[in-house]
Amino acid sequence: MEIILADHAGFCFGVKRATDLAISLAKDPEKPLYTLGPLIHNPQVVQRLEDLGIRAIDRVQDVEDGIIIIRSHGVPPRVIDEIKARGLEVIDATCPFVRRAQEYAKQLAEDGYQVIICGDQNHPEVIGIRGSVNSEVLVAKTLDELPQHKLKRKVGVIAQTTLSIQNFKNLISQLVERVDELKVFNTICTTTEERQKAASNLAKKVDLMLVIGGRNSANTNRLVEICRNEGVTTYHIETADELKKEWFENVQRVGVTAGASTPNWIIKEVLSVMSEFNEEKKVVLTEEGKHET
Ligand code: F3S
Repeated sequence: MEIILADHAGFCFGVKRATDLAISLAKDPEKPLYTLGPLIHNPQVVQRLEDLGIRAIDRVQDVEDGIIIIRSHGVPPRVIDEIKARGLEVIDATCPFVRRAQEYAKQLAEDGYQVIICGDQNHPEVIGIRGSVNSEVLVAKTLDELPQHKLKRKVGVIAQTTLSIQNFKNLISQLVERVDELKVFNTICTTTEERQKAASNLAKKVDLMLVIGGRNSANTNRLVEICRNEGVTTYHIETADELKKEWFENVQRVGVTAGASTPNWIIKEVLSVMSEFNEEKKVVLTEEGKHET
């Protein structure tokens, strides 16, 4: 059996940056450390951070003293103000690409555009972007989800960083027929696009795809959807414990990819357990970019 690891599988820049920052603070903690919400959407990493003394909290009010780490998704500025007003310290690990989306949204509103975020309104990143703007912000993935009567003559659109480019293009092409002026900032993170493209390409070449990542991770779920859309059997797992030997019977080539919040150590564990399943067969592990077909 040949196991092919997709390009760009695993931690993205922003998640790695936030996780490294949290771990480095935990080495010599001067005060209790907290993250506002789980640092990343991966239960195993969150558990590891907790073992290092970094606790995830839901509300700023739950903390009397300490340092609060803001995760890569970012938060509305009023949350930072609230933390400081309570006399707590803030370490802001908001991904610079998310920060850029917040700034574009703010700028659009200041220039008189009706701001639309193409994304999921319950996603923490979208909540943070929305909170960075002083006027009303609409959030939708499709034109049907938008309250049409609220569309102004001038509309400015940005995207949730993990959105699929196709989804963004669809909304833009529908909006362009409805409004007089449309300004668009493509805030989709290229890492996401690259990871999605690599997963889709690999899914075309293999008999089975494995997607590793938290079930609460939007970008991991999206990878699963992309692979399934290619018509290949796809399993979503969080850890190596979920692997089943029978999945690999009569399978020649397996593709593996992982979400932006999946650490390397989990990917390695999965690859190693898969290799053990196939000890009687030759297992070849290749990286997609270096793979010859
Ligand atoms: Fe940042 Fe892109 Fe990751 S926006 S958090 S590098 S998916």
